[in-house]
Amino acid sequence: METLEVQLDSYPDGSVEARNFRISSASVPEPGPGEVLVHLRRLGLNAGLANRIGGPDTDYGPGIHPGDVPASDGVIEVIHSRNAAFKAGDLAVRKSPWRGVDVATADELRIISAVDSDIPLESHLTILGHVGFTAYTGMVHVGGVQATDTVFVSGAAGGVGSCAVQFAKAIGASVVGSAGTAEKVHLLTQELSADAAFNHHDGPAAELLRGAAPDGINLFYDNVGGEQLEAALEVLRFRGRAVICGAASQYGKGGDRRGPANYTRLIYQELTLRGFTVTAHEDLRGEFEARVTQWLREGKVHSVHTVVDGFSHIPDAFASLLSGGNTGRMMVDCDS
Ligand SMILES: NC(=O)c1ccc[n+]([C@@H]2O[C@H](COP(=O)([O-])OP(=O)(O)OC[C@H]3O[C@@H](n4cnc5c(N)ncnc54)[C@H](OP(=O)(O)O)[C@@H]3O)[C@@H](O)[C@H]2O)c1
Repeated sequence: METLEVQLDSYPDGSVEARNFRISSASVPEPGPGEVLVHLRRLGLNAGLANRIGGPDTDYGPGIHPGDVPASDGVIEVIHSRNAAFKAGDLAVRKSPWRGVDVATADELRIISAVDSDIPLESHLTILGHVGFTAYTGMVHVGGVQATDTVFVSGAAGGVGSCAVQFAKAIGASVVGSAGTAEKVHLLTQELSADAAFNHHDGPAAELLRGAAPDGINLFYDNVGGEQLEAALEVLRFRGRAVICGAASQYGKGGDRRGPANYTRLIYQELTLRGFTVTAHEDLRGEFEARVTQWLREGKVHSVHTVVDGFSHIPDAFASLLSGGNTGRMMVDCDS
């Protein structure tokens, strides 16, 4: 059987462009015992893949060189199975090579339950995917969000942040979000139901946060660190909690990474800062999937994504992602 795949064709000269990739035909081998033949239906794209082009192999994945087929998470449909645990028509999430039809082993597939067939496929790469699971773990379990909380989410329009805002709202909390453009601030208040939002480029973060939450906050969900972490420590009420999920503003700074200069607020305000790593909380996955699926059905939360139609447009979609042409997760509908 023949299929199409996307290969890196050349190293970029500056930013990655669609012409750095080529669409090639490839032969698909017969699945062996225990393997399944899968068809790629939705492909999620990550900007981080660009860092691996021409780079060394790292914990995040192998370096990508001309002739290589990149891989990112996708929703696949089983078209032929030689494994008793799968049958044709089953849907699953897989780290998928950018290839239309492929052979997969069972341990690569996280099956999507048949009872979830009314849930749009895109949701499995966003709010029910890795970013959703991260936000649920951090907001619900580490942060213990309550309906009575006033929550501040930094990086609130990003993958994790947009889910964290929605989960806190679904539980009934008041939510303030920060983001880096007027469009993202609009998304937060108009589409994600945040009670207030500010653009962190508009002035000192502590002033902006005080303006958006004049009575203070009692839970902070941090994706970016730096100045916004310091601002939150200023505005957290007595016995407030902070969940340290990420520190996007500090990545790549090496030894110049900045911690909060006002950490003594932890003493006087009896604050708690708690970090977490989502991979240590796999036991929560069943609860997460059941609860977020219910919220999706009730219309309390939704997937935030931009879809580009057609497998052959994967290179355009990836280049567009790198130049900011997306709201929420960029993905490709490979069915159309
Ligand atoms: N703890 C865990 O297990 C775990 C798991 C997954 C991810 N994470 C972390 O969670 C965070 C969010 O991940 P994600 O996938 O949602 O990434 P993302 O979509 O790229 O969101 C990160 C946001 O950070 C903001 N940002 C980047 N640089 C900034 C800077 N210098 N100053 C202020 N804001 C900045 C950007 O927002 P604006 O453009 O709006 O400013 C961006 O939307 C990351 O820090 C990631 O490392 C943690």
